[in-house]
Amino acid sequence: MSGLTFFGTAMPDEIVEFYTEKLGMEIWLEQSGCTILKHGNLLLGFCESERPDVQGTITFFYPDREDVDEMHEKFADIAITELKENERYRIYNFFAKDPEGRSIEFQTFLHPLGPHMEGIEVLRTRRSIRKFEDKEVSAPILDKIFDTCRYSPTSKNTPSYYFVPIHDSGIRKALAAERGGASEPIENAPMAVAICSDPYVSKRHVQDAVIAGYHFMLTAWAHGLGTCWIADMDRDMVKDRLRVPREHYIATVTPLGYPEETMIAPKRKDLEDYLK
Ligand SMILES: Cc1cc2nc3c(=O)[nH]c(=O)nc-3n(C[C@H](O)[C@H](O)[C@H](O)COP(=O)(O)O)c2cc1C
Repeated sequence: MSGLTFFGTAMPDEIVEFYTEKLGMEIWLEQSGCTILKHGNLLLGFCESERPDVQGTITFFYPDREDVDEMHEKFADIAITELKENERYRIYNFFAKDPEGRSIEFQTFLHPLGPHMEGIEVLRTRRSIRKFEDKEVSAPILDKIFDTCRYSPTSKNTPSYYFVPIHDSGIRKALAAERGGASEPIENAPMAVAICSDPYVSKRHVQDAVIAGYHFMLTAWAHGLGTCWIADMDRDMVKDRLRVPREHYIATVTPLGYPEETMIAPKRKDLEDYLK
């Protein structure tokens, strides 16, 4: 399900300019007399009206405190409160006013969040995470992630893939030692997950596991959890440690946990380079 909130505005041009040019929202849809703007999962429509709607608060939230600090600096001229932590709501925020007097809030939540990103944002912001907070991933969240992974495509809709959650720190340490620095993230996280498949279930078991692995990574990210594809983990030692039969396939063993840092996307090639 999706939705959007409309506001009447007596100064549509200034309002659209403010929310796009100053605040960075994108124009999502132009209608006769209305402009609908987008910021992450937030859709706001502004429609020409003699009586503007200025009640309520429009809240923009960001991944980190540093993002809120940056917005405070940028909007120093219209900020009406200082930056502060609000213990009751466990947020870090400040308030400002838009050109028509609406209350706008910039904040970050000081605790993990449920899924809130829309699809394109999940795809564009997922990063390989190699350092993690010392915080467990709860069983209900793991269940939700694995449940969503049932929708990964498989050859002839015959899923040969399966997941092996790894909580034991001794096993993770041994797996992390497998490939030196390249596999070290497995030890840095509070847990890891092996994505495996059974060749007796499907002859396309390699593809099933690789696709399921990426499905898992994206689903984890939508829940605010970091992962990292660790290459070359289909080895006998890894299988023995995880009690995975030797003839099965392991696509990867990924660390799983709350990211300790915000990663900037490594530079991508230009679009033309991907179109042959
Ligand atoms: C097939 C494959 C193998 C990878 N192997 C490793 C690895 O062994 N260790 C590691 O830290 N990252 C590994 N990565 C992560 C890449 O370094 C990462 O995806 C790339 O730098 C782009 O960064 P991003 O994932 O944050 O967009 C691997 C990624 C892929 C797709």
